[in-house]
Amino acid sequence: HGTSRINDQGHLEIGGVDVLDLKKQFGTPLYVYDIALITERANEFVQAFKKRNIKAQVAYASKAFSCVAMVQLAKELDLSLDVVSGGELHTALVAGFPVERIHFHGNNKSYSEIDMAVKAEIGCFVVDNFYEIQLLKEITQKHNKKVSVLLRITPGVEAHTHDYISTGQEDSKFGFDLLSGQALEAVQQVEDHEFLQLLGVHCHIGSQIFETTGFVMAVEKVFSYLAEWKEQLNYTPQVVNLGGGFGIRYTKEDTPLPVSQYVDATINAVIEQSEKLGIEIPEIWIEPGRSLVGDAGTTLYTIGAKKEIPEVRHYLSVDGGMTDNLRPALYQAKYEAILANRANEVSQETYSIAGKCCESGDMLIWDISLPFGKPGDTLAVFCTGAYGYSMSNNYNRIPRPAIVFVENGKATLVVKRETYEDLIQYDLTIKGNNII
Ligand code: LLP
Repeated sequence: HGTSRINDQGHLEIGGVDVLDLKKQFGTPLYVYDIALITERANEFVQAFKKRNIKAQVAYASKAFSCVAMVQLAKELDLSLDVVSGGELHTALVAGFPVERIHFHGNNKSYSEIDMAVKAEIGCFVVDNFYEIQLLKEITQKHNKKVSVLLRITPGVEAHTHDYISTGQEDSKFGFDLLSGQALEAVQQVEDHEFLQLLGVHCHIGSQIFETTGFVMAVEKVFSYLAEWKEQLNYTPQVVNLGGGFGIRYTKEDTPLPVSQYVDATINAVIEQSEKLGIEIPEIWIEPGRSLVGDAGTTLYTIGAKKEIPEVRHYLSVDGGMTDNLRPALYQAKYEAILANRANEVSQETYSIAGKCCESGDMLIWDISLPFGKPGDTLAVFCTGAYGYSMSNNYNRIPRPAIVFVENGKATLVVKRETYEDLIQYDLTIKGNNII
């Protein structure tokens, strides 16, 4: 997929670069991002709105993969940016991302995080609860600065791949629930404050979603409450933000829709509901994370130990694992992989791919068909671009891999590999003992 192909030497090539050259230059494990594919995905989203002449913002949910270079790329692609912490905000500011297109999320933004964002004059706060409204009032007053606000509501629709649950009774740590009247109270509080400008509403129904039904249900639910707000407070929104969650294809079992279908279904639902309510069609904002960067990422590993339990299982161990990709251990997530140095060879064996952490659950892939593998071979695991590096960790004191962007035959190192020195940089010695 993307610009990935097998070259004449039988090696995997991404963005016109032979991955064995990447391995030689940067070592493994290595995250490799296909920039042309990220560009294509971003354009698909942006064009899907343009085609329908709908005012929109496509905000990249940077929790999926944040580093300075990625934020710079999002800026070049004319995306907006969703950040969820002081750290992601700092990354965005250092990358020179246009502040007016930064949206700040989170169910427990701290005083100092809000202070930093107000000072930076970011585009909007997605306000999650009454405590945050209180902090925003204090901090905007202190700086004498106005901020724009979306209210996050829990629409009582939960979507998970093929399952939709319309709970009616919302129970979530995120946002204002609709039934208790708290959302209405929040609208009033924000409307009444001179430094807070209420742009509209936000909801997010889940992740790795394969159908449009959940989004349409969410729009209907949101608008049923907008009707109430219009009637009782004469409030109509300028923006409806429907969050992220568009699914991608990790394995053959996954059947996501083309981006334009999600967008079209959402637009149709918003238009229909706006007409019904007799209001102007609001701007539609979305926040894709996984679907922008997920399938553009590939992780390269070097195979080391082999263990064969006759008639039970053949293990191949790689030089990474749950430290660079927590998703299999945390969510039983499934991935596809190939031997990148012998990509033309026929698969002859079923292997299970083990990580190197001291934990039995550190298995990246169960039962995958590959050519006979041996120590030194290169394993490429696909679709690791979202929530891989961003959830990576130093368990077992394993340094994080480097990241390269590849495009048009050129590789650019964008995050350096961590060193052992990096790992101990915050460690202090016990008094009286000298570090060696
Ligand atoms: N907007 C909000 C408010 C969100 O909470 C999320 C993801 C997104 C947008 C982006 O969703 P996406 O388009 O990436 O599905 N660590 C998990 C995924 C957690 C998603 C959390 N929220 C994983 O690795 O599958």
